Amino acid sequence: MAGLVVIGSFNVDHVWSLPRLPRPGETLAGHYHTGPGGKGFNQATAGARAGASTVFICSLGADAGGQLARALAAADGIDLRDAASDEPTGTAGIHVDAEGRNSIVIGPGANAGLSVAHVHAHSDAIAHAAVVLAQLETPADAVLAGFDLAREAGATTVLNPAPADADVPPELLALTDVLTPNESEFCAQLARQCGETLDPDAVAALDGATLHALCRRLLPGGTVVVTLGGQGCFVSHPADARRGDAEAAFRVPAAPARVVDTTGAGDAFSGALAAAMATDPDAAFGRHVRFAGRYAALACERAGAASAMPRRDEFDR
Ligand code: RIB
Ligand code: NA
Repeated sequence: MAGLVVIGSFNVDHVWSLPRLPRPGETLAGHYHTGPGGKGFNQATAGARAGASTVFICSLGADAGGQLARALAAADGIDLRDAASDEPTGTAGIHVDAEGRNSIVIGPGANAGLSVAHVHAHSDAIAHAAVVLAQLETPADAVLAGFDLAREAGATTVLNPAPADADVPPELLALTDVLTPNESEFCAQLARQCGETLDPDAVAALDGATLHALCRRLLPGGTVVVTLGGQGCFVSHPADARRGDAEAAFRVPAAPARVVDTTGAGDAFSGALAAAMATDPDAAFGRHVRFAGRYAALACERAGAASAMPRRDEFDR
């Protein structure tokens, strides 16, 4: 059973849809809803709904949030490997403006306790994985342990270096086959890893040769996919590993979308990309990237994070 293993966070998202994002000292009224989120769970849900047999390794509290995660994982056929934490289940407070842009605060809670020992306890799942996908809302040492096991097992590793302020240890990048930053995360890691200062708003307008060179500096041994929101994405392969693509670097235009809520769009992209790689390993990488872009565009047309991930039949329609 070759499939997808996701290591990461689960949050209960508390979402306010507002005419605009609040300013300091201001009180605004808006429409409230709550639902499942967390970058890890969003990516696992996208992976499962995009068609991969999916294992999700996480840490949950003994509360209603933890029960919600278990019920939703069961409904989507996700094999949940959760550690029981004494901390409350992770939470996020999300403001979404009229244009679908968001700002997010999180209370890590149980996510902060995801341990190396817990990842090691589920090495059986990683040993059977084709792809191991992670982000950084859970401790980096647990992700590093998972990627170490993935390398031993011959699985492909995909790291979504989010959130942008995450401290990504260089040893983790060294174990990463595919890195999927958005513009802010790309610039944050360029600054952290290479001492290179670049404005996130300037990334989409850079010429391909410059962007490719920056990607090569950031991840010399692996593929970088910089997601650029409405501008699509940029793919940069190492010279010797084009993964079936004719070119070492190329742009993929965005799929059209009637944007309602971009929360979890990056998660939809990384989850769908990893699922495509796991289920169709022989296809060219550019084909997987196009699929992930269309999948993320559809997720933006619905409110919410994990619950907005399209099912395969909805996607095919
Ligand atoms: O990437 C979107 C996610 O970030 C939300 O679901 C929220 O939980 C935060 O983790
Ligand atoms: Na959405």
